[in-house]
Amino acid sequence: MKKFSILIAGGGSTFTPGIVLMLLDNLYKFPIRKIKFYDNDKERQDVIAKACEILLKEKAPEIEFLATVDPEEAFTDVDFVMAHIRVGKYAMRELDEKIPLKHGVVGQETCGPGGIAYGMRSIGGILEIAGYMEKYSPDAWMLNYSNPAAIVAEATRKLIPNTKILNICDMPIGIEGHMAQIAGLESRKDMIVKYYGLNHFGWWSSITDKAGNDLMPKIKAHVKKYGYDTKVEDENQHTDPTWSDTFRKARDIYEIDPTTLPNTYLKYYLFPDYVVEHSDKNYTRANEVMDGREKHVFGECRKIYKAGKSEGSTLEIDEHASYIVDLARAISYNTQERMLLIVENNGAIENFDKTAMVEIPCLVGSNGPTALTIGTIPEFQKGLMGQQVSVEKLVVEAWAEKSYQKLWQAISLSKTVPSVKVAKEILDDLIKENTEYWPKLK
Ligand code: NAD
Ligand code: G6P
Ligand code: MN
Repeated sequence: MKKFSILIAGGGSTFTPGIVLMLLDNLYKFPIRKIKFYDNDKERQDVIAKACEILLKEKAPEIEFLATVDPEEAFTDVDFVMAHIRVGKYAMRELDEKIPLKHGVVGQETCGPGGIAYGMRSIGGILEIAGYMEKYSPDAWMLNYSNPAAIVAEATRKLIPNTKILNICDMPIGIEGHMAQIAGLESRKDMIVKYYGLNHFGWWSSITDKAGNDLMPKIKAHVKKYGYDTKVEDENQHTDPTWSDTFRKARDIYEIDPTTLPNTYLKYYLFPDYVVEHSDKNYTRANEVMDGREKHVFGECRKIYKAGKSEGSTLEIDEHASYIVDLARAISYNTQERMLLIVENNGAIENFDKTAMVEIPCLVGSNGPTALTIGTIPEFQKGLMGQQVSVEKLVVEAWAEKSYQKLWQAISLSKTVPSVKVAKEILDDLIKENTEYWPKLK
């Protein structure tokens, strides 16, 4: 059986150790001969790499390991690039969240002006690593979950259409874990779902079990009362109290369209006033993550390499990330597994822009994804999605053309922003902080 060579791009990510442990846990169905890390921050990556090297020696000494900041070394002889980079790191995430909030607007990693600012940084980073992959391992596939995935996906569609990149998000997967629990099933994989929308902007229109029994009534009855709030046993992401609030808020999002079940991210677009009122403009999610996940993961990694062994470590297998293995297996073994991916619409949603990057079920095989037909979507969703997809397209155009005007239009068009005036004020503040990362706008 072929063994694969994997490159984790963004090796210094807080998610890297959990993903390495997950890969090791799944070797029986996805054999690996080599794991490499690539990052452009050597110091940050080294902390994670030194610990992961020990984990690998303990659990799978036959796997070759290398951590590098040299693109040629990293991208040569690779089958899959698993990409989770964060251009500008948490320092810039904090500003993405705090600058809009200062103007009374939603401050969020991927939604609204913060997501737009992050997008303007990510596009260049993703194109760069995609270029390295094309140059050094042209047969490889990139499995990308770097954010903001919607903007990144539109950028890759428009600017590098022939590169083999699959864009995927774990939020529907996380929510489906809650749904399965509500429906009394063991796993989300026991459900067959219909879902449509954009990344961080979508709806489930049908959920059945494998026998075809409709699970929507039971899940809806729960959501109507509690949102998606429910205890999921093996969940180790989305566990902070702010995430529970987000899961609960789905109750209110559901009310506006009880024919579907919503993605939790819709709260930023449909309840921006509530979100701003419930935000602390001095301590946002970035602060929580820096004080929580980042301290924990980096602290544990330092402990491991000081001790020279992982015994007693509290690093956990990121089992929920096994969707990345499902995706790699689908490509490698032509499994035709049904997965939600961010792909060009191309008529799958009949009454929607053909060139929009939409999040819909696809069958994934060795030639990539085949999108399933969705048919027509309701006016409410179509209207919201049309506005949001234009935001995403304008950001990519602004980046490619270095256009101040288009980026101002993008921010103004976001449903989270009340006026063109506020959009300009936020934009001018964002420009000041992003000079190192954004193209210079004209
Ligand atoms: P992190 O800051 O801990 O890790 C990101 C790493 O990327 C850092 O080590 C950084 O140095 C590196 N990096 C930045 N720019 C780079 C470049 N140009 N080339 C190479 N490396 C670069 O962030 P995190 O919180 O662990 O998240 C990592 C990424 O995964 C983020 O983009 C986050 O939004 C994304 N994410 C996506 C999903 C999803 O559902 N799609 C889920 C979780 C996290
Ligand atoms: C979900 C989303 C990701 C996002 C993450 C943020 O998993 O799907 O796209 O990056 O949440 O989580 P954090 O813990 O960093 O706020
Ligand atoms: Mn996501």
